[in-house]
Amino acid sequence: MELWEKVDRYIGETLVRPDDALDAALEASDAAGLPAISVSPSHGKLLWILARLVNATRILEVGTLGGYSAIWMARALPANGRLVTLEAVDKHARVAKANITKAGLEKKVEIRIGAALETLPSLQGPFDLSFIDADKQNNAEYFRWALQLSRPGSLIVVDNVVRDGKVIDARSRDASVQGVRRLNQLIASEKRVSATAIQTVGMKGYDGFMVALVTA
Ligand code: SAH
Ligand code: DHB
Ligand code: MG
Repeated sequence: MELWEKVDRYIGETLVRPDDALDAALEASDAAGLPAISVSPSHGKLLWILARLVNATRILEVGTLGGYSAIWMARALPANGRLVTLEAVDKHARVAKANITKAGLEKKVEIRIGAALETLPSLQGPFDLSFIDADKQNNAEYFRWALQLSRPGSLIVVDNVVRDGKVIDARSRDASVQGVRRLNQLIASEKRVSATAIQTVGMKGYDGFMVALVTA
């Protein structure tokens, strides 16, 4: 095990602390055969903190998987808060629904099944926080939608924007890498957002996340 993986586990055990509903969500996802690509506990808690910082009452997620990140973010919502999460794969949505219900969050979380580019046009903003974590080749389109569904002061967070450093390879044939690069170009020319990206190492290897503040 890489040292940073051990450190991420240590951070998970000390600062984030184990949590029954979140642990159960990962176990059920695993048992159902879902890929182990949820955010790490340390990243999940960061999403929770960001949601609290923007006083989020409405949250949008693109890419539900087993609902792990959705549970983290939904827990930051006040009683009248709502999270909408978009998922293309039926089975993922089913597992997520059970996990979210077990976490006691079924009244706050709505899962919309279908390709996100099909379901996004039916959503009503504004969302205070958007978390983009689905198929990476559509990152730029998802970001455009998230921006349209934002207000000044909203945050847009994008997962997996470094991909083992492959992001700097302009000639990469990897559609995910090109998706991230297109997103970065879009943001570079978009005056309504101010963004940065943080590289991360941990349980999920070497990757990174982008945080974009909607300023106008
Ligand atoms: N956010 C989750 C992990 C998401 S993994 C967490 O951290 O817990 C990415 C998810 O996006 C997968 O469940 C995958 O099925 C879904 N996905 C892939 N392409 C999609 C699309 N076009 N529309 C909606 N969801 C999609
Ligand atoms: C993949 C997707 C993710 O959202 C992630 O966090 C890690 C890996 C993937 O599709 O490989
Ligand atoms: Mg991800």
